[in-house]
Amino acid sequence: MCGIVGYIGKKHRAQSVLLDGLRRLEYRGYDSAGIAFHDEKKVISCRAQGKVAKLEQKVLKTEKEGVVGIAHTRWATHGKPSVRNAHPHRAGKIHLVHNGIIENYSLLKKELEKKGHVFTSDTDTEVIAHLIEQENKKYDFEHAVIRAAAKLQGAYGIVVMHADEPQKLIALRESSPLVLGIGKEAFILASDASAIVSYTKRVVYIDDGEMVVLTPHEYHVENMERIKQNKSEEILQWDEKQAQKEGYAHFMLKEIHDQPHSIADAMRGRIDVAHGTVKLGGLASVSDRLRDIKRVIFVSCGTSYNAGLVGEYMFEEFSGIPTEVEYASEFRYRTPIVDENTAVIAISQSGETADTLAAVREAKSQGALTLGIVNAVGSTIARETDAGIYNHAGPEIGVASTKAFTSQLVILALFAVLLGRQRSLSLVRGKEILAELAKIPKQVEAILTQEKAIKKLAKKYAKYENFFYLGRKYNYPIAIEGALKIKEISYVHAESYPMGELKHGPIALIDKQFPSVVLAPKDSVYDKTLSGIEEIKARSGKVLVVTTEGAKEVKRHADDVIILPQTIEMLTPLLAVIPLQVFSYYVGVSRGLDVDQPRNLAKSVTVE
Ligand code: AGP
Repeated sequence: MCGIVGYIGKKHRAQSVLLDGLRRLEYRGYDSAGIAFHDEKKVISCRAQGKVAKLEQKVLKTEKEGVVGIAHTRWATHGKPSVRNAHPHRAGKIHLVHNGIIENYSLLKKELEKKGHVFTSDTDTEVIAHLIEQENKKYDFEHAVIRAAAKLQGAYGIVVMHADEPQKLIALRESSPLVLGIGKEAFILASDASAIVSYTKRVVYIDDGEMVVLTPHEYHVENMERIKQNKSEEILQWDEKQAQKEGYAHFMLKEIHDQPHSIADAMRGRIDVAHGTVKLGGLASVSDRLRDIKRVIFVSCGTSYNAGLVGEYMFEEFSGIPTEVEYASEFRYRTPIVDENTAVIAISQSGETADTLAAVREAKSQGALTLGIVNAVGSTIARETDAGIYNHAGPEIGVASTKAFTSQLVILALFAVLLGRQRSLSLVRGKEILAELAKIPKQVEAILTQEKAIKKLAKKYAKYENFFYLGRKYNYPIAIEGALKIKEISYVHAESYPMGELKHGPIALIDKQFPSVVLAPKDSVYDKTLSGIEEIKARSGKVLVVTTEGAKEVKRHADDVIILPQTIEMLTPLLAVIPLQVFSYYVGVSRGLDVDQPRNLAKSVTVE
């Protein structure tokens, strides 16, 4: 997700208001930034790679202000972080900033190039500017924006400026947030209220399919059929710090709640249900090599390693390729036996984890095909692997990984289907998996409505100093991830085991002071998991069970139950991890800890 800001007003304050807005939005993305404002003679545009401070150094030299302007701080989705890919993007007299992902940008780009348009960046955003310019040859500014938007597929929040119309600013929203601040002498548009709240608390939330047309004196909102919309003004209840968290107490809780969107974004434009397969553009260059792959090794750390454990089950079951998962910190010091038919897949949210990067380099030196599943576009691992897939989860600020993890699972599921459909996975099975995957964002939303009940459970269990986290098959990695979450944000000791392993020793620890969190969805190993729960109860152990609708038997044995919607076994991890994230968050909060920045931890471990 990126930060966008627009300003139009009676006073010449565009540059200062826009830069101030970017500073407050920098948490949304910070690999490059840019600004364009009109000083009533011409448009002054300035872009810089790196943080907003870099841009400020460049733009303050202009010593100009303006009455209208746009600005952007980037979290790259298409095209690595650089000045040429930084927003605002321009096409002729059209200047534009964008937050979102345009799925059909490459097709539109080809059509525009045939009409003589010349592109200067690798971004999807620049296509929007050229589309508007093309339409503006025949239609006025507003209508050109509407007609261009009608051609776009994907998510966008855009703010557009026209060099010949400095008294006008247009914004449009489809699936990416856009809020309008109504000041005494100016209007401010932004991706979220944190860029607005210090100027005004009067806001109008723009909805999908709406266009805002602003002048320094008034604004109006239209839908895509050009029908004026009556919008209600609201008064912000937040201060600026809260606004960055959109009212949530911590970034971690905000990111947990962002998962219906981030999971949808991870699959956006990548699912082809009709053919029961997926389109992963980032792997196009190695598509043939993927057909020859005889072995897969995931290399990663921490939560990303746990995603690899889920991927192992998915790849073996659906692509039929022998798969293993290695701690990157171990892989790099072993003598791994890899060859050109081995795919070594690095999973990394930051794309900068030193151990994972070293493992990639080791694999590459041995001739393996190296691939990345990375969130940070243009990061070192993304650049050093032969090809890869981006998460599109946006910046993850909380140190404890949540939305990046579930978007990794989505990508692993898509990847398993892609490889499977190159081999023996049937069209019918492929369609079924993708149809179930498409339901996940809504199912996650449904689970999050249980937040209050899970918070209550967290308060009840926060007094314990030790936990077991237990699961079988697809849910064993989720037991490991749940144990990691509660360890890292509440400093509670938690061990995870395959449920079947408990009786081989660990069960000696069970007593009234040693509760177990058990993942027991109604799946192929449900009955086996049930017997494990009975073993724990027989030793007076407390059991909090995460199960699915219809699993009546388990309720008889559990002390507490969290119910999930039913999905196919391969996708249950995407649902089962959600309550564990919420549970560990509230255990940490009830212990009065800084859940966004836990002690001893860093968001990206770039040292050995
Ligand atoms: C997860 O909650 C932790 N912050 C940590 O384990 C993290 O997953 C690990 O350091 C790997 O980071 P990466 O995904 O950026 O490579």
